[in-house]
Amino acid sequence: MNQVNKNYINGKWQESRGGTKFKSINPADTTDEIGTYQRSTVEDVNLAFSAAESVRKSWSSIPATQRGELLFKAANILEKRLEKVAAMLTREMGKTFTEAKGEVLRGLQLLQFYGGEGWRMTGTTFPSGKQGRLLLTLREPLGVVCILTPWNFPFVIPLWKIGPALVYGNTVVFKPANLTPQCGLELTRIIDEAGFPHGVFNFITGTSSELGDALVTHPAVNGISFTGSCATGAKIALKASGRRPKLQLEMGGQNPLIVMEDADLDQATDIAINGSFWSTGQKCTATGRIIVQEKVHKEFAELMVKKTKNLRVGNGMDTETQVGPMVSEEQLEMVLDYVEVGKKEGAKLLCGGGRLEGKKYDKGYFIEPTIFGEVKPKMRIAQEEVFGPFVCILKAKDLQEALDIANDSRYGLSGAICTRETKNVLKFVREIGVGLVHVNNSTAGAEPHVPFGGMKDSTSYFREMGRTAIEFFTQYKTVYMDAT
Ligand code: UN1
Repeated sequence: MNQVNKNYINGKWQESRGGTKFKSINPADTTDEIGTYQRSTVEDVNLAFSAAESVRKSWSSIPATQRGELLFKAANILEKRLEKVAAMLTREMGKTFTEAKGEVLRGLQLLQFYGGEGWRMTGTTFPSGKQGRLLLTLREPLGVVCILTPWNFPFVIPLWKIGPALVYGNTVVFKPANLTPQCGLELTRIIDEAGFPHGVFNFITGTSSELGDALVTHPAVNGISFTGSCATGAKIALKASGRRPKLQLEMGGQNPLIVMEDADLDQATDIAINGSFWSTGQKCTATGRIIVQEKVHKEFAELMVKKTKNLRVGNGMDTETQVGPMVSEEQLEMVLDYVEVGKKEGAKLLCGGGRLEGKKYDKGYFIEPTIFGEVKPKMRIAQEEVFGPFVCILKAKDLQEALDIANDSRYGLSGAICTRETKNVLKFVREIGVGLVHVNNSTAGAEPHVPFGGMKDSTSYFREMGRTAIEFFTQYKTVYMDAT
């Protein structure tokens, strides 16, 4: 199958105006071409925004409950093709089929959750200082929002932005990551089949380097919701600053897991492996640093290395695979570069560190899960986000030192602790400088109905998912009502 896929603008599948084409391939087998997509132009971006702008008023005036109904319809369609969409996700992005199914299921839950938000899009009433006055707030949509999403969760991240954007009454221009256009397309097909009015949702594919400026500076944009690297987030903020659209930027992490000497080390190593290596470490919530209390440090590292060496790397569609390929050659090279950085900095390579070769691996981007020991907090491999199956082990004498190391980071997305002591838990929860705090579970993973997001350089502060998404995707209108 190699069909030429189109953009979806104003309710119609359309070829790009003047653009070329690009391909998407399977990272586990690069001879497997998934499809060909429009390498769109600025003209296509303008058309998408015109469509979104033209229905902005009519869409926002439809009762929120009816907008929610359309999301429920989309959820019903997705439910019927959950396995098919998950298989496509594995084929295009590489994560294991089990993880892909989990991702698509979370997408379904988000559609259902935001469908229900149509019934809960409430403002607040206040007592007034003036006799007889009714004083209240309404929630109004921003208008047109631009949604820019990464390749690592190519299905659920778009949905956790698109769901609230639509139900709260915004119209959308959506560009998925260049490496995963097919996942964006699957999602667009579902929205098309659910029967949203034309122009409410628009999808274009292409490269950020060619379209990024137009997408974030278009005069119609009222809000931009982006997930990706800090470097790109900073560029978006700078570019957009002239027009000041509302910005929601969810960015990187270098997430710590603290392992205390009282922890169950078998459980702690499982938690560490889950956080560091599932999805091939390609999560902004992945564990990048494991800070282990001195007394159990050696034992922990040995057990971690032993379990890591037994991990089965391969094609995510094989049921025995635990770690899939990297998403692209470029990403794989980046991780290999960090292996060199780690060696040069004087850290000790405990396992992994190389590209996998041989019959099973030669057609894909496979790499060994990698652990560095004897890592010092200021080393680049402990400070920078590697975004691959790559983790550092550090040593701390007590919880205070572990927390100091954990908090010595520009990032503040996620953090975890393994301990059986309540006093450790309480201190950790209060003092760790992250937005997502995990106790006896991995730094990765997020439930759909609670706020998601980080602190420090990881965020622009507006949380995603759950009811909190309303804070970004709407604005207040305060109403003072007096009788004549
Ligand atoms: C998760 O840990 O399941 O890009 C979600 C990312 C995050 C999503 C992580 N925004 O990796």
